[in-house]
Amino acid sequence: MSKYQTHQYDVVIVGAGGAGLRAAIEASAAGAKTALVCKSLLGKAHTVMAEGGVAAALANLDDRDKWEVHFRDTMKGGKYLNQWRMAQLHAMEAPQRVRELEEWGAVFDRTKDGRMMQRNFGGHSYARLAHVGDRTGLELIRTLQDRGVHQGIDVFMEYTMRSLLVDKGRVAGCFGYERESGRFVVFQTKSIVLATGGIGRCWEITSNSWEYTADGHAMAMWAGADLIDMEFIQFHPTGMVWPPSVKGTLITEGVRGEGGVLKNKDGERFMFDNVPEMFQGDYAETQEEATQWVNSVIAGEKPQARRPPELLTRDVVARAIRREVRAGRGSPHGGVFLDIASRRSADEIKKKLPSMYHQFKELADVDITTDPMEVGPTCHYTMGGVRVDPETQETTIPGLYACGEVAGGMHGSNRLGGNSLSDLLVFGKRAGEFASKSALEHDHGAVDDSEIESLAHDAQKPFGNEGGENPFAVHEELRSTMQNLVGIVRTKDDLEQALGKIEELRERAGRVTVTGNMQFNPGWHLALDLWNMLDISEVVTRAALTREESRGGHTREDFPDSDSDWGKFNQVARQREDGIEVEKVPLPEIPAELKQLLED
Ligand code: FUM
Repeated sequence: MSKYQTHQYDVVIVGAGGAGLRAAIEASAAGAKTALVCKSLLGKAHTVMAEGGVAAALANLDDRDKWEVHFRDTMKGGKYLNQWRMAQLHAMEAPQRVRELEEWGAVFDRTKDGRMMQRNFGGHSYARLAHVGDRTGLELIRTLQDRGVHQGIDVFMEYTMRSLLVDKGRVAGCFGYERESGRFVVFQTKSIVLATGGIGRCWEITSNSWEYTADGHAMAMWAGADLIDMEFIQFHPTGMVWPPSVKGTLITEGVRGEGGVLKNKDGERFMFDNVPEMFQGDYAETQEEATQWVNSVIAGEKPQARRPPELLTRDVVARAIRREVRAGRGSPHGGVFLDIASRRSADEIKKKLPSMYHQFKELADVDITTDPMEVGPTCHYTMGGVRVDPETQETTIPGLYACGEVAGGMHGSNRLGGNSLSDLLVFGKRAGEFASKSALEHDHGAVDDSEIESLAHDAQKPFGNEGGENPFAVHEELRSTMQNLVGIVRTKDDLEQALGKIEELRERAGRVTVTGNMQFNPGWHLALDLWNMLDISEVVTRAALTREESRGGHTREDFPDSDSDWGKFNQVARQREDGIEVEKVPLPEIPAELKQLLED
């Protein structure tokens, strides 16, 4: 062990986006010696990609809003596969968590009478997203970072964790390496909170940056934890499609929340023709009605008209855009048009959507105050994740917790925009609270030196391989496989082909050869990350193959309808001796009063 860097903590949080930071703040406030370990630099997290706001029924703009409506919207948006208790806790606790953030120094946009400003987003019945222009996630991270650092949390930047260590069935530590020096590191700890975010780098077109390589999902599964609902992948409807170097970069849903409309190349607002049966009656049926709604929003009044269909849930809008493009009605670069210029003044656009204005000006040479944007779907979020207890966020392994995007269950088959920030605040706090409580009640487990030796040996294999495979080439093939065969719309044939391809890529990953040494070596880092991505891509594909219906972020061309029987089941994936197993598990029984709320 003396060869390795070693540390001992009560609680180790792996991942330092909003969820990890919120968990760390809670754990350290409870008196637990807490380490926050991040793959990248502190503050560089996908949390900042939740630009348009944090969802909470504060009812500042519309007094019809309350937690019950937020709960209902979330369940309906998730097509009722959500773990109801998570959705309930989330809707009930989000307002408290957002106000607390304000007490800690977050600066939100304001209404004229000084309350937190809220905006409309897809699937939310009322203006519900508290925001800071279109930089809400950034402000959230900045606030949590200040709070956490001043509270004395130890931060380990640029450390990648590779494996969880388990002793007598309970978590005992984790193993990884420091990216800069390449030195191996062991954290001995009584509880671990996984907050590693998503898996977007398994797809070609994504809003996720390089860190999101399924680390937490894979480590949890390898250690024996359950994953839930992994077939449900969110393609955010509006990513940039041009120029190629920035393809997939997010365009906030806030553009549509502020009145932006989607049009095809013929200038038609195609979303009017794409309202699914379950949402009929909820959305405006004519342009006049939609305009009435926008005018009330601009005037700061409570809209009486129904919302425009551009504010349907993300799964619906992404599919509709794909359909327009496939039908030959797309924009020159393979997207559709998003127009805010004809709805809002240049001053309003620059004030409410400053990052979007600069993003398009600098990256695409488009002035969004005068011209429409070209947009198309981009892989953004994973609804599925590590299966957790709704109250404590403990996984199926004692002492191991998960929160934020890496945890599954809260969003069902489709997440509503803005619910990610509120999710990470609510469940980050809970994970930190229960992880520290459990840590303070337990002794350290044993860390086995020979296990560490073997993990270190395996991690160095790419330096000794002679196969000559390039890790970047294998990764690019995985990304195009997932993009083309496990994308927005899937078929049995495509999914089977994807499984074959993943197997072939796994063999090639075993022959990946890395040159140079262990000091900051991105080729080596990717060679290791490939194993996470291959295994988790297989989980997604297997779960997509077994769910023979279409629902939320999982559309099967060969089973185009939702099936009421499938609507009673989640799917749980586990690693077994002979490979990955996917099991159908019944949804937990929902209490009568909440069921009534949904029926109302
Ligand atoms: O569109 C957005 O601003 C993204 C928000 C989210 O994913 O929650």
